[in-house]
Amino acid sequence: MNYHRFDCIIVGAGGAGLMAALESSKRVGTAVVSKLYPTRSHTGAAQGGIAAALANLEHDSWENHAYDTIKGGDFLVDQTAAEILCREAVECIYDLEHMGLPFDRTAEGRISQRRFGGHTKPNPNYDPTAAPGTEAAKPRLPVMRACHAADRTGHMILQTLYQQCIKQGVTFFDEFHMLDLIMVDGECRGIVAIEIATGELHVFHAKSVMLATGGFGRMFKVSSNAYALTGDGPAIAYRHGIPLQDMEFYQFHPTGIYRLGILLSEACRGDGGVMFNGKGERFMEVYAPNLKDLASRDVCSRSIYQEVRAGRGVDGKDYVYLDIRAETINKYKTSPTGGTVDSAWVEKRLPDIIDFARTYLGVDPIKEPMPIQPTAHYAMGGLPTNLNGQVLRDSQGDPVPGLFSAGESACVSVHGANRLGTNSLVDLVVYGRRTGRSMAAYALDREFKELPSNPEGPTKSSIDSLLARPRSEPWVKLRDEMQATMMDDCGVYRTEESLTRARDKIANLKERYKSVGVSDKGSVFNTGLLEVLELGCLLDLSEATVAGALARQESRGGHSREDFPDRDDSRFFAHSLIWRAGDNQANVTYKPVDIVMIEKDGEQVPKYPLEIRKY
Ligand code: FUM
Repeated sequence: MNYHRFDCIIVGAGGAGLMAALESSKRVGTAVVSKLYPTRSHTGAAQGGIAAALANLEHDSWENHAYDTIKGGDFLVDQTAAEILCREAVECIYDLEHMGLPFDRTAEGRISQRRFGGHTKPNPNYDPTAAPGTEAAKPRLPVMRACHAADRTGHMILQTLYQQCIKQGVTFFDEFHMLDLIMVDGECRGIVAIEIATGELHVFHAKSVMLATGGFGRMFKVSSNAYALTGDGPAIAYRHGIPLQDMEFYQFHPTGIYRLGILLSEACRGDGGVMFNGKGERFMEVYAPNLKDLASRDVCSRSIYQEVRAGRGVDGKDYVYLDIRAETINKYKTSPTGGTVDSAWVEKRLPDIIDFARTYLGVDPIKEPMPIQPTAHYAMGGLPTNLNGQVLRDSQGDPVPGLFSAGESACVSVHGANRLGTNSLVDLVVYGRRTGRSMAAYALDREFKELPSNPEGPTKSSIDSLLARPRSEPWVKLRDEMQATMMDDCGVYRTEESLTRARDKIANLKERYKSVGVSDKGSVFNTGLLEVLELGCLLDLSEATVAGALARQESRGGHSREDFPDRDDSRFFAHSLIWRAGDNQANVTYKPVDIVMIEKDGEQVPKYPLEIRKY
């Protein structure tokens, strides 16, 4: 048996995993197990920025950031967690700067910041009686809060954290794919992983195990997510009876490259870009009269769908335009300062976006608008955790001993029903750091517990039986059917009818999956085998997503039920917990949202009272 022992094992080498590794390795032996080479992790695809109320260009505060985050999440955000996120973001940005992250700079040498959707400040000249459409009629205005390194912010974060981990002596197992958790009496004692180059199984024995495996956007047909984003951590935990939280909330980013889904950063609109329908109308003026193109992502994505449904897509098709030409920014006075910009300024701010459009679309965005459509981008739901990254096994907040999670695979619930752009990177660093610290403390407090005999046995049997099966129905066919189903029936808009269809289809695919085989029976780089295993994870997570969406008979944030178009706080001001109950069955329960109370006129009142979201 290939056996390794570390105090802390972290699965996944994206921002959350590396930040946690950096922290835990200061105190205890730490290893990172990743199915990718670390700097290929998906954090590297995050483009436009990382939010923190540094107030480098205009007045801002962490309280403003927290309010925007809670409102952006349509009030499903856990408020203590959001306050921690926004307060600790500031310190984390300076930590990253001191580690060497090459942020863009203001003329005075401070970290530069840009606008992003839903990030605002109160309008000092707000007058509720002012004529609609005037500046004074807007209660809040966009604020420059996203710290950036051109449009490669995630890439820079990943490189910086990886270098620091290497410097600090974190051990890396690159291209090792986790296949199972080792659970004994409800406690996590390690993982089993396959070494991709050899096909050998390895047992990693640990006191603290962290799942930082990222999102699972590959369940949808059009997605900004890399192929590796298959939700292995949450899916494997779900199979061990651990619930998943708020799975029905999946974010569609409004501006994906048409048909390909590749991300065109929200920084395009933060820096002044505008979306137009096929009639050349700036349609966001209708759906979000105050913030327009800088409304939250769920609002923008639904608006695009509405335009397309009304036949106002470009040439009557299912896409609209994103225009970042300097002449458009100047015409609509949408540059961050309201002043004039030229093409060189746009090229300097958005170099990768311009490159992507030229490469993948054959469109030069300096001269012409880019065809875009909403693309599946981010899972608000995932493994429920507390503020220290411990995975929770029930609605009472009892942790699973030894198991931790942070980042997109987790749901500490700082994003609620809809995440604001740039808040994912903050989540990674703030909760990655907290989780690393708590994993180390947990490990220091304990001895290693014994592993069962033959801990890799069950994994080996299931791999052997999969390899022994003849290749009957191609697994790619199942994957395509799953992705089409999730996109069409559990996408931006949902109904009871579409979700019931999706539930039945996913159950059918899960049945067919049981007899799927692979043609490559070898052990060296058997990527076919691994993709089949990843498909199994996506099918389980699709089942959970559809179950949550069917049960939630309201519309909130990224979950939009056409048959229940309003938010219903009387029934659904609560987090869902989705439990695996047998092979093709998922049960849904609910737990309360955490609310921060303050004293006002001698009474305890909510600090963030519920309001109807308007942008
Ligand atoms: O639009 C973007 O640059 C993506 C950022 C994010 O998802 O936070």
